[in-house]
Amino acid sequence: MEAQRMLLLISILPIALHGHVEFNNLRCVERDKLFLTFEYCYLKSVNRTYKYASLKSKMLQLPIVNTVTLFQVRQRENKRILYNFDLKVDGCKFMKDRSNVLANYVYQTWGPYSNINHTCPYNHDIMVDKLPVQHVNRLVQTVIPDGRYYMNSTWLVDNIPRAEIVVYFTKS
Ligand SMILES: *[C@@H]1O[C@H](CO)[C@@H](O)[C@H](O)[C@H]1NC(C)=O
Ligand SMILES: *[C@@H]1O[C@H](CO)[C@@H](O)[C@H](O)[C@H]1NC(C)=O
Ligand SMILES: *[C@@H]1O[C@H](CO)[C@@H](O)[C@H](O)[C@H]1NC(C)=O
Repeated sequence: MEAQRMLLLISILPIALHGHVEFNNLRCVERDKLFLTFEYCYLKSVNRTYKYASLKSKMLQLPIVNTVTLFQVRQRENKRILYNFDLKVDGCKFMKDRSNVLANYVYQTWGPYSNINHTCPYNHDIMVDKLPVQHVNRLVQTVIPDGRYYMNSTWLVDNIPRAEIVVYFTKS
């Protein structure tokens, strides 16, 4: 009886522990090179447990006092869309009051590793410094179903799309 229970535990545990998120690709797209350019944008694997994402955008027209970000998350299998998440965030308003619960959740996944972490105006280049995939993992592993995902965020300043940041990831 005990042995059977042990076996059961052993066979279940690895599955539970392996439920995780893997970043497959990160792409930063300049939509307006007169407004911003990306100095770098990459994923790095240090070892099996430590992987991170870093990016830096040089801002060419400062200050920034008006931003909107559109987030789209899609889970795809062949041509069918299985999971859909869309969010529009007024950046300056959000940084001031943090009252949008969904936006706050998305922000928690990367904001603490970014210098975006203050209210408007922004008078400097924007970077995300070594965002550990494990950090994102902890926040999203319980809320999304297994599958292959695509997240597209479009960054507008003064209502004009300036950049897109696209992440492909797999939850298994
Ligand atoms: C992975 O690299 C990090 C940073 O260098 C280190 O702290 C950690 O111990 C490493 N983990 C393994 C399993 O080697
Ligand atoms: C910025 O980040 C620091 C450290 O993570 C935190 O203590 C602080 O409250 C944040 N500032 C704002 C304006 O959110
Ligand atoms: C990201 O979304 C925008 C619309 O918000 C769209 O114009 C653009 O083509 C998308 N980019 C990618 C790489 O899918």
